[in-house]
Amino acid sequence: PRPAPSTPAFSIAPIPAPPVVTLPAGSKQERWEWLRNRVLGCPICAQHVKPGKQVVFGVGNLDADIFFCGEAPGADEEAQGEPFVGKAGQLLTKIIGAMGLSRGQVYIGNIMNWRPELDSPTGNRPPTQEEMTFCLPYLRAQIEVVQPKVIVALGNTAISGLLGADPTRRMGKVRGQWHEFAGTPLMPTYHPSYVLRYGNNKTKREIWDDMLMVMEKVGLQISEKQRGYFSGRSES
Ligand code: URA
Repeated sequence: PRPAPSTPAFSIAPIPAPPVVTLPAGSKQERWEWLRNRVLGCPICAQHVKPGKQVVFGVGNLDADIFFCGEAPGADEEAQGEPFVGKAGQLLTKIIGAMGLSRGQVYIGNIMNWRPELDSPTGNRPPTQEEMTFCLPYLRAQIEVVQPKVIVALGNTAISGLLGADPTRRMGKVRGQWHEFAGTPLMPTYHPSYVLRYGNNKTKREIWDDMLMVMEKVGLQISEKQRGYFSGRSES
């Protein structure tokens, strides 16, 4: 597990108080486009993005029942301007597929809209609480536009960003149980990068169990085959 978010040792431009975001009236599409333009034009986000890289805003179906929330863009995401398109994204796409859905049927966003700066060309660091606090109104507004039935918080950072920081919180205790963000049921689970790096069969079964709970909550049909993934009853 990674260390708790902390202020990096090198200097980054200070993060001001979070923006106040008041969505305009209009259709979901109009409100989403307004918000997207606002985030892509956010001077603070722009200030923290490396030259040639992009601010990353959420993507997907504005009528989605399921809103996946990750941590922050990585190298692939800041290059392409889309969340979860790198290795972790490929696993997330696979998980969504196993649920019988496509990326275009769900919504995918991040707590943060830029890749947290590092003093090395490679690697990632988790966002600081300050950085997450700054970007949270942008995520909250995306949730307000989409009005999903369920939010899936991917990994400890997204969980802390959405439920508040709590150093005593443990993934093993919070996953597999319903929580709430702004009145919407929230399922915490492992981050796909964690599954890729440290995942054993138990972790894989647990993330899938969490997805089965999500599927049940939103009223998706669950086949016997889907129920059997990772249970030993099915090898696929
Ligand atoms: N990890 C995240 O949390 N978000 C991304 O968009 C990509 C990787």
